[in-house]
Amino acid sequence: MQVKSFEEYQQVYRKSVEQPEQFWEDIANNFLWRKKWDKVLDWNFKEPKIEWFKGAKLNITENCLDRHLEKNGDTPAIIWEPNNPSENHRVLTYRQLHSKVCQFANVLKNNGAKKGDRICIYMPMVPELAIAVLACARIGAIHSVVFGGFSAQSIADRIKDAECNIVITADGSFRGTKEVPLKSIIDDALVQCPSIKRVIVLTRSRTPVSMIKGRDVWWEDEVQKVETQGNIECPAEEMDAEDMLFILYTSGSTGKPKGVVHTCGGYMVYTGYTFSNAFQYQPGEVYFCTADIGWITGHSYIAYGPLSQGATTVLFEGIPTWPNAGRLWDIVEKFKVNILYTAPTAIRSLMSFGDDVVKGKDFSSLTKLGSVGEPLNEEAWHWFDEKIGKGNCPIVDTWWQTETGGFMISPIANITPLKPGYATLPLPGVQPVLIDDTGKEVEGNGVNGNLCIKFPWPGMLRTTYGDHERCRQTYFATYPNLYFTGDGCLRDEDGYYRITGRVDDVLNVSGHRIGTAEVENAINMHSSVVESAVVGYPHDIKGQGVYAFVVCPNLHDDPELTKKDIMMTVSRIIGAIARPDKVQFVSGLPKTRSGKIMRRILRKIAEGDTSNLGDTSTLLDPAIVDEIKEGAL
Ligand code: PRX
Repeated sequence: MQVKSFEEYQQVYRKSVEQPEQFWEDIANNFLWRKKWDKVLDWNFKEPKIEWFKGAKLNITENCLDRHLEKNGDTPAIIWEPNNPSENHRVLTYRQLHSKVCQFANVLKNNGAKKGDRICIYMPMVPELAIAVLACARIGAIHSVVFGGFSAQSIADRIKDAECNIVITADGSFRGTKEVPLKSIIDDALVQCPSIKRVIVLTRSRTPVSMIKGRDVWWEDEVQKVETQGNIECPAEEMDAEDMLFILYTSGSTGKPKGVVHTCGGYMVYTGYTFSNAFQYQPGEVYFCTADIGWITGHSYIAYGPLSQGATTVLFEGIPTWPNAGRLWDIVEKFKVNILYTAPTAIRSLMSFGDDVVKGKDFSSLTKLGSVGEPLNEEAWHWFDEKIGKGNCPIVDTWWQTETGGFMISPIANITPLKPGYATLPLPGVQPVLIDDTGKEVEGNGVNGNLCIKFPWPGMLRTTYGDHERCRQTYFATYPNLYFTGDGCLRDEDGYYRITGRVDDVLNVSGHRIGTAEVENAINMHSSVVESAVVGYPHDIKGQGVYAFVVCPNLHDDPELTKKDIMMTVSRIIGAIARPDKVQFVSGLPKTRSGKIMRRILRKIAEGDTSNLGDTSTLLDPAIVDEIKEGAL
C-alpha cells in the first residue's frame, strides 16, 4: 500500500482520481474480509448517502489482532508507559492483546452487551482502554469513548444522546501530580441516565469509590469469572462493512456536540492505508502517538490504524511536562521510538522550557516525526526539525478531522518534498477543492478559499448519531455536492496546501476542538450572567485561547471572584479544557439592529488589534465598542 517515490505518488494519485473505485478496491484487498463486497461505492452528497464496500462482511478486530497471530504473535502490539516513571511499564504482544480482548469481550457478553448496543467508555490511558475499545468491536457493540477531561454533564449528554446501556470506567486516573476521580464523575453523570444498566470499573488509582449493588461491578472480578468459566475464546461477530463501529462526539459551531459515526469497513481500510503510507511504517518500528484515545487521533492512530498494520504502538498515560519537560524524550529513549507523532501545542509548550530539557537526550532512534491538530507554525516546525529530528527526520504534518476518520492532506514520509507550515498535498483518494464565499470553485494556484472535498473517501463520517439531517446541514448543505470541512486554506504557487484555521465559530485550543456556542451556553448558566460572547485569540502555547465577553449587571461582590465562578461553571458544565482564559465584563455586546452579535469586532478586540474595526455604523449602539475596547484584557 506504500508508494516508494514521488513519481509513484503522482501516478497513484492520478489513478485514485480517475478510477477511484478501482483504486480503493486494490487497497481494500490488503485487508482480511469474511466476504468481499458486491459494490465498491454507492454515494451522493445530497442526502448524504455514502456506502463503501457494500455487502462485505468483516470484523475489524480480526484485522487488528487475529491475522497477526500466526507470524507476529510475539511482536509487541502495545507498549504502555505509566504516568509515574518509577512504576513498571507493560508490554502486550499481539497474542496477549488478542487473548485479553477476547476475555473482556466475554465479560461484556456476560454483562448483557450485544451487537448494536452503545457502550460509553470513560477511562485513563491504560492498556485496558484499548482492550475495552477492541472488545466492543469484537462483539459488534458501538463504542462511544469520552475523553477523561470532560465533566459529568458532558458525559451525561453523550450517554443520553446515544442511549448507552453500559459504561466502562476506572476508579481514578493519574495525570502528572493530579488524580481524577473518574468513577465519582460517572456517578454524578448517571443521576441523569436511567438507560445505564451496568458500570464496569477497572482498578487503577484505588481511590475509594461507591459501588452500587446490581449496577456496578469490578473489571477484575468479571475477568476472573470468565476465566473460571473457561470462557477464553471469543469468535468475532460478523459485521457488515457499513455497520456502525463507533460514535465520537465533537464540537461544531452550534448547539451540543454531535456524535460523528464511523463504520466498520471503510474506516478500517482508510486508517490502515493512511497509517502505512503516510508514515511509511516498516515492520519492527516503534511508533509513539502522544494523543489520548478519547480523541479521534487516538482511535485512528494509536489503536485501529497501527494495529491493523501489525505495528508496535506506545500508549502513554501521563503528560509531557511531568515529572519534568523532558518526559517525552525519556520515553523516546527508553523504547527506542522510531516514529513520533505529536501536536503543535505540545511542541510549543516543550520549546518554552528552553534547550536544557533536550540536552543529553538520545534521539538517535527517531527516523520520522508527525504533527496533528492545528497549524504547525514555522518556529515550532524548525525547532521540532532541528532539536528533535536533528535535521534527519521528515515532519509529517497531517491535516484531518474527527469527521474524516484519517489523514487527508499530508506529506508521505521521505517522499513528499516538505515546506514548513504546510500539510503539503492530498493523499491518494482525496480530492480537495477551494470554494469562495459565493460558492464558486477557486481554481489554479496561489489562491485561498474554504476547504471542501468533492469525492467520498472510505474513512468519512456516514451520519451524526440519531440526527441525519444535522449531518446534512452541517457538512453538505453549505456548498451543494461538496463536503465542507469548516477550514480555510491556501493553495500556494506549487499547489501545496496550508491550512489557515477554522472559518466557523469553532475554536482550536491546545488542539482540542471547542464550539463557542457551547462555551457561551455554559457561561450563561451562571446565575448572574445575562448573556455572553466567546471568541478565540492567539495564544503562544495553546494556539488559541478562549476570550469571553460577559454581561453581568449585578456584580455585587468581588468581580475577580465572579470571574473565577464563571470559569468554574464552564469546567462543571463542559470540562476544564473549555475554561475561558480571559473574562471581560461588559455592559452590552455589539449587536446589529437585527440582534446579531458582531463577532468580527469582538475577535479583533480579543486579538488586541483595535486600529481598524471596520464599519460599526450598522450597530444598534456603536458606543459600546469604545467601552469594550477600553476594558480589553
Ligand atoms: O481546523 C483543523 C484542525 O483541527 C480540526 C479538526 O479537529 P478534530 O476533529 O478535533 O481533529 C483533530 C485531529 C485530527 C480541523 O478542522 N487541524 C487538524 N489537523 C491540522 C489542523 N489544522 C492545521 N494543520 C493540521 N495538520
